[in-house]
Formats: sequence, structure tokens, C-alpha cells
Amino acid sequence: MTYNNIISKENNAVATITINRPNKLNALNRETIKELHNALKEANNNKNIKVIIITGSGEKAFIAGADISEFAHFSVSQGAALAAEGQQMVFDFIENLATPVIAAINGYALGGGLELAMACHFRVASDNAKLGLPEVSLGVIPGYGGTQRLAQLIGKGRAMELIMTAGMIDAHQALNYGLVNHETTQEELIPLCEKIALKICNNSANAIAAAITSINAHFKDGVNGYAIEIQEFGNCFGTNDFTEGTSAFLEKRKANFTGN
Ligand code: COA
Repeated sequence: MTYNNIISKENNAVATITINRPNKLNALNRETIKELHNALKEANNNKNIKVIIITGSGEKAFIAGADISEFAHFSVSQGAALAAEGQQMVFDFIENLATPVIAAINGYALGGGLELAMACHFRVASDNAKLGLPEVSLGVIPGYGGTQRLAQLIGKGRAMELIMTAGMIDAHQALNYGLVNHETTQEELIPLCEKIALKICNNSANAIAAAITSINAHFKDGVNGYAIEIQEFGNCFGTNDFTEGTSAFLEKRKANFTGN
């Protein structure tokens, strides 16, 4: 598929999706949201792809937020529709994707940009990254899940302060807060993400998808995460990957997983 605002590349079993609007600091407009949805769906449906990395084009920004010029004149109902549509098409979609998604934060991750990074399964940041949810400085609040995921990831008090002050934290602070898993140089950002991705690729894609479902279950209203874990654990016993993984261990050889 061809896109106007993103670049999607495959290398071995890793797909890298780059938001490509550098002149607008990769701000997420409607078209980009739709393209991201399609590219993620395409990568997730491709059996050869085992990990997805999302990053931003240029040296300055991961994503500097939702495109302010698109919603500045919106009404109450249009604002609510914008958040609902975006959450469904991209943010919840990423969080619940069976394929692991890593955010490679290579600069500003603000507003919808940080929200996108937080919807990914985990995050790695380069040392020029600046992260924040500055929406209250525009008279609005985060609408792509930011109020929920930031509190989940760094705790309620820190989320309250960061959102209320519309402040930015650097990569080092984000690492201290547990908002990102690793801090690295700009040059090493993608190589480090690829190195982690390749480690993930060695394991059972089925079991990884089951782990994503189970971990996410803790954060869903009315869902018992322990019960989901039991169910997903049991399901693993019916897969070829389980037979292969346990046989390989007992036969003292490397497992060759097919994801079936
Ligand atoms: N939406 C739309 N356009 C955006 C944008 C956004 N979220 N963030 C940046 N841009 C555009 C700017 O309007 C500018 O476009 P122009 O050259 O056509 O005027 C271009 O990207 C470069 O941004 P600029 O502000 O000139 O860069 P800077 O280095 O001076 O400042 C930021 C960088 C990130 C501090 C600043 O762009 C900013 O505050 N952006 C908005 C962040 C935000 O509030 N995000 C939450 C949105 S809900």
C-alpha cells in the first residue's frame, strides 16, 4: 500500500513505520491516523512480521501531537468524535495488537505523540527526546487515552503534575519514571530497538500475543486479569509452538517456532 504521511519498511521480521511529516513535526492529522491504522493492520496480518517499530521522521520529533490546525474550530460533538475515532482506529488498536509494538521516541513526543508512544507495548527514547501532555495549555485535555495511560505508567500524582503544568520531561526523567525502558543516543535508537525486536522474534509469536492479552487485561474495567491469564495459559497448550518449545528444551536444541 502507498501512503502520503508514513513510510512502512520491512527488514527481516521487523516492520518499521515512520510518521513522515517532518515539516509539521510529524503532527497527527486525520489522514495520518487512517494511514497508521492501515499500515498497522497490514503488518499485523503479515505472518512474516513479528515486531513493529514506530518512529518519527527527521531529527527533531517523534510526533509533536495531534494536528492542532485540524481541530481548532471543532464543536463539542466533533471534539468527542475526534477522540473516539482516534482511540478506536489507532491507540486502542495498537495496545491490543497481537504483534508487539515498540515506540522509538526520537525527539518531541507531545500530546497525541506521547499518547501514541504510551499505547505501544513499550518505549525506548533517544537523549534528545522531550515528553509531555501539554493539552491544558490549549484549553483541552488529552483525548487519545493520555489521562488513563500516563497514570498507569508513572502513577497518579506524577501524571497529575505533568498534565496540569503542561510540562515536558527529558529522556532521563522519563527513564526514572519508568515511562521509557531505555535511554540511548540518537544514532543508537533504531539499532537498539531492532536488537530488542530480534530477541522477541526468537520466541513464540502465539505465546507473546497471549502475554499481551493477559497483561492488558489488568487495565480493562470489569475484567479479571488472573482469569484471563488462566484462559490464555491453557490455550497455549493447544498450539504447535508449545509442543515445539517444550520438545526443543527437552531435546537440548533451539526451538523453531512457526507461530501456529
Ligand atoms: N499541530 C500542528 N502543527 C504543528 C504541531 C501540532 N501539534 N506541532 C508543530 N507543528 C508545526 C508548527 O505549526 C510549524 O509549522 P509551520 O512551519 O508551518 O509554522 C512546524 O510544525 C514546526 O514547529 P515550530 O513550532 O516552528 O517548531 P519549534 O522547534 O519552534 O517548537 C514545539 C517545537 C514542539 C515546542 C512546538 O511546535 C509546539 O509546541 N507544538 C505543539 C505541541 C502541542 O501542544 N501538542 C499537543 C497538541 S494536542
